[in-house]
Amino acid sequence: MKEKLEQVCQEALARLEKAGSVEELGVIRVAYLGKKGQLTELLKGMRDVDPEDRPKVGQLVNEARARLEGSLEARKKELAAKALEEQLRSETIDVTLPAKRNRVGHRHPNTIALEELERIFIGMGYEVVEGPEVEYDYYNFEALNIPANHPAKDEQDTFYINKDIVLRTQTSPVQVRTMEQQKPPIRVIAPGRVFRSDEVDATHSPCFHQVEGLVIDKGITFADLKGTLQDFARELFGPETRVKFRPHHFPFTEPSAEMDVSCFKCGGKGCRMCKGNGWIEILGCGMVHPKVLRMSGIDPDEYTGFAFGIGLERIALLKYEIDDMRLLYENDERFLRQF
Ligand code: DAH
Repeated sequence: MKEKLEQVCQEALARLEKAGSVEELGVIRVAYLGKKGQLTELLKGMRDVDPEDRPKVGQLVNEARARLEGSLEARKKELAAKALEEQLRSETIDVTLPAKRNRVGHRHPNTIALEELERIFIGMGYEVVEGPEVEYDYYNFEALNIPANHPAKDEQDTFYINKDIVLRTQTSPVQVRTMEQQKPPIRVIAPGRVFRSDEVDATHSPCFHQVEGLVIDKGITFADLKGTLQDFARELFGPETRVKFRPHHFPFTEPSAEMDVSCFKCGGKGCRMCKGNGWIEILGCGMVHPKVLRMSGIDPDEYTGFAFGIGLERIALLKYEIDDMRLLYENDERFLRQF
């Protein structure tokens, strides 16, 4: 029994010595100390040992077990250290290699234009507010005096979520939300994304941006609208800029107008930029319709106001002389870096 024990032990230690990985150690452990391992089997053989010798033999087997466990542990540490060393050697970093260039990003032309618009209006005392892109039909249409079956509703090619909820087709619903929440005097701009089911081409996209403006107070007149938007145009396109208001129709304003600016490229003589006519249309505007005021909880006999809506992409395209709207959405860095 004793010799047998010694022999198994030596054999196990020899295998340990030869083992090249931690996994191999696991196999050896099972082979000797596992449930059916050789040492375990020997221990089972105790039955055949003389009862008086059993304590002694038992002790021997336990000693052998302990020795093997100890050696296994020691070998495991050795192998782990060796593996670590190898890993460190193979993963060394060559600090003499040239570094990867860190490219700094660039603000998008839309963002640059928006920040410019915000700067101008904040300078005139406006607050910047926002509204949801997924909007109730009520705010997008009804409360803006565009009832069901109104032709203006079709013109906007609306994306419907369900019969009551739409992707907003304009930032004008933020006017209503603002009037419901704030007491006059109100002076806000509301920039944001809007959606229409348009085909993509050089001047259209199903998703674009508008900046809405709203002013409500006692005694606001069309003269305030004209003065404000003229100042805005001069600030944005230069002090020489002239503006022109053409009568127009929007359901939520009365009277309504579109504002043109004199072409900042040719000064109004006519060029490619203004398609030869010297003027460029940049926004829609008007005096807030009394019905819209009333629906939003503001008494039209006490307060009046004006509103305007600017297409942000249009401003960015004009200001940076970009001739195709699609360029704004391709995120080609070579393009974006130019502005
Ligand atoms: N919401 C209009 C549109 O998308 C633009 C607009 C026109 C907004 C006149 C206004 C406004 O606030 O007064 O075509």
